Amino acid sequence: MAERQDNSSHAAVGECTTRHLSLTLRVDFQARCIQARAALTVEAERDGLSELTLDTRDLKILKATTNGLEAKFSLGDKHSFKGTPLTITLPFKLLRGQQAVVEVSYETSPEASALQWLTAEQTAGKAHPYLFSQCQAIHCRSMIPCQDTPAVKSTYSARVSVPKELIALMSANRDGELVDDQDESRKIYCFRQMVPMPSYLIALVVGSLESRVIGPRSRVWSEKEMVDAAAYEFEETETMLKTAENLVGPYVWGQYDLLVLPPSFPFGGMENPCLTFVTPTLLAGDKSLSNVIAHEISHSWTGNLVTNKNWEHFWLNEGHTVYLERMICRSMFDEKFRQFVAMGGWKDLLEAIETFGPTDPLTCLVPGLRDTDPDDAFSSVPYEKGFALLYHLEEQLGGPDIFMGFLKAYIQIFAYNSVTTEEWKKCLYSYFNDKTKILDQVDWNAWFHSPGIPPFTPHYNTSMADACIALCKRWLTTSDAELGCFSGTDLKEMSSQQIIEFLSLLLLEPPLRLNNVKRMQEVYKFNCVKNAEIKFRWLRLCLRAQWEEAIPLALEMVTVQGRMKFTRPLYRDLYNFEKARQQAIDTFMKNKPSMHPTTAALVAKDLHLV
Ligand code: BES
Ligand code: ZN
Repeated sequence: MAERQDNSSHAAVGECTTRHLSLTLRVDFQARCIQARAALTVEAERDGLSELTLDTRDLKILKATTNGLEAKFSLGDKHSFKGTPLTITLPFKLLRGQQAVVEVSYETSPEASALQWLTAEQTAGKAHPYLFSQCQAIHCRSMIPCQDTPAVKSTYSARVSVPKELIALMSANRDGELVDDQDESRKIYCFRQMVPMPSYLIALVVGSLESRVIGPRSRVWSEKEMVDAAAYEFEETETMLKTAENLVGPYVWGQYDLLVLPPSFPFGGMENPCLTFVTPTLLAGDKSLSNVIAHEISHSWTGNLVTNKNWEHFWLNEGHTVYLERMICRSMFDEKFRQFVAMGGWKDLLEAIETFGPTDPLTCLVPGLRDTDPDDAFSSVPYEKGFALLYHLEEQLGGPDIFMGFLKAYIQIFAYNSVTTEEWKKCLYSYFNDKTKILDQVDWNAWFHSPGIPPFTPHYNTSMADACIALCKRWLTTSDAELGCFSGTDLKEMSSQQIIEFLSLLLLEPPLRLNNVKRMQEVYKFNCVKNAEIKFRWLRLCLRAQWEEAIPLALEMVTVQGRMKFTRPLYRDLYNFEKARQQAIDTFMKNKPSMHPTTAALVAKDLHLV
């Protein structure tokens, strides 16, 4: 069976399975490392199991024991993106179904790819250091030696020692705190995750954090400087949770908290169980970017309960999550709004295919990842090609309510498990066993395995996009002599989402003439806009029009925040703008030591420095 293989992991999934992970972590800000013990309860999947292989990256392994007895271990060769396999010899053979506790004592490296260590100066409060993790897709192994594959799910518990002025949180329910009896200046925070989950969902944050209650099962956490703004911005959280529960069934994780990270957090949001991580660039002041919260909430079912078996099937996580996110949006607003955001998503797909090139294998819905780091494969393709497929099926099979019946059944059937695309498809055929004629008309091979634009183009209702389309056309067709026809009132009736869509439409066209962007600044004053999604698209438009005045603004945006969705395209546009190229490289080299390790690695590739 090919699917026993996870091309992104050294762990042999068919050999044994981790059932529970017990972590003892001591966070050392001076040494920028975690001194740790990880006790894995592993279960043999076959008779005669005598060794097991774990994933590691840059870990210093000090000792290994099995059921308390010292065990032999050896590290293999370091693979370019998979890291170093750690093989532990068991002092006895296990029978199928038998369990053993394997404990590894180790230290993380200051360069651990999952961790960003921030100095006090890099935080909003300037008084305390800060640490956060980001494990998806294959970075957990730089924090914990483990079977770092989403095919394996386990519960976990943790005790985390930190300086007593700081708070530690994890992707788990909080289970009390005590003084560290080894060191009076430290405190220990305890956690318990009772729902089995994949390693990529393990998450840790340590910092000077405060919280506000925003719902019956929700708090928002951040440094105190942002906590009130965050409580306002994410006020709809409980409504979204209830809406999701009405669509797909009970939320099983207990608490649903949000953590607003420092600006270098590389993603918009990360669905860490019990504690979604989000970028501070969502703080627009008007809740206009809250779809990211609907998205991360949706992962509580698609992704965290039903998980892709390996990263080649990542679209199962993200495509279904985008679909659910947009169903929440439909329930809370209306179908017209869902159509509007779905159309925006299709544009994102076209842009991603253009960036890779239409024959690039990474534009396939199910890409092969034998020789590819999942970080390099990441794009809008699994999200939006995945959504486009699900929307196409919805239309063919009888509409949103009928298709939601399938999604709910799929979640019930595969909850607490990991799935492949083939298993998903089997489930679809069995749920719609009275509609197999319709299903057989779908060009599955093209959808799953052909690069480029999908075999079917959706037609979305344009009523909310019409104003954006019309304004975009005017800017494309107006001659220099007629630029006086534009004024600030053009945007009066438009929401921030519509302004974002207007700019996205312009970005799909050939560059605007310089006079046009200058006039646009005069009338719309986009240079002063705070909304990060608007600012990002505006600066790209200016850079493509070769407007030199935009260079310092773009360099500022890539420096003050590190969300890859913004930082990478801006760096690429700066690179492609002759006059800005050297400044972009200089800015990157200067900031690199204080950047997030993943962002720094990918921007270095974008700037052709590696
Ligand atoms: N799980 C992803 C983020 C991720 C994916 C991190 C792969 C590392 C590897 C998260 O749920 C996500 O999709 N975030 C989006 C939100 C958007 C689609 C609404 C983001 O960060 O922009
Ligand atoms: Zn997602």
